[in-house]
Amino acid sequence: MIVAIDGPSGAGKSTVSKLVAERLGFSCLDTGAMYRCVAWRAAQEGVDLGDQAQLGRIAREARIEFVHEPGSIAARAVLVDGCDVTAQIRTAQIDRAVSAVSAVVAVREALVDQQRAIGAGGDFVVEGRDIGTVVFPQAEVKVFLTASNEERARRRVAQNAERGVGSVDFDEVLADIVARDARDEARAASPLVAADDAALIDSTRFSRDEVVARICALAAEKL
Ligand code: C5P
Repeated sequence: MIVAIDGPSGAGKSTVSKLVAERLGFSCLDTGAMYRCVAWRAAQEGVDLGDQAQLGRIAREARIEFVHEPGSIAARAVLVDGCDVTAQIRTAQIDRAVSAVSAVVAVREALVDQQRAIGAGGDFVVEGRDIGTVVFPQAEVKVFLTASNEERARRRVAQNAERGVGSVDFDEVLADIVARDARDEARAASPLVAADDAALIDSTRFSRDEVVARICALAAEKL
């Protein structure tokens, strides 16, 4: 079974996905981390963000691995070709580069193939931007999670402070997420959009536990 959770940055997808997966006994897949890994590798290699052929090559060649502790649902670390990039893929520099990388069709094709292969291996809560529309259009549960811009910026600042990476300046974070969402929505390839059959949940109006309970209830109807 696949529970697809899409939505803009900072809507609470990661936290909610982990909690839903924990309750249902599913695994979690953070597809945004995979696009971030390609952006990180491109920066390491000095590849220009306009060089679509090179970005496509990186997406096909980079070995992206999620390291799980035994019994833990969320990945403890993300590796690219064996190198631990867990913190490095969350910097403001990667935040700004990633939407140019994710707009490249060859990058999306390579990563979507990997995401489908991972998802075929069991029951997953998959979070991203195009999970219900493109990656798993047959997902049993589809959710489009949103929140106001200010709420999303507040959450991202708190998350960055907790992780010790990325900006903690509210105005800077707000401007960055609004700009990134605009790029994700405007791109031609798999833009950020709710699937027709997705349940729309505005997490500004509900507590985290209420959001988790609503998604688990949707899943329970399909189990
Ligand atoms: O979820 P996260 O903020 O880590 O995603 C980083 C970026 O990766 C997004 O802004 C978007 O450009 C891209 N992305 C995507 N499709 C997905 C997941 C993420 O294009 N399924």
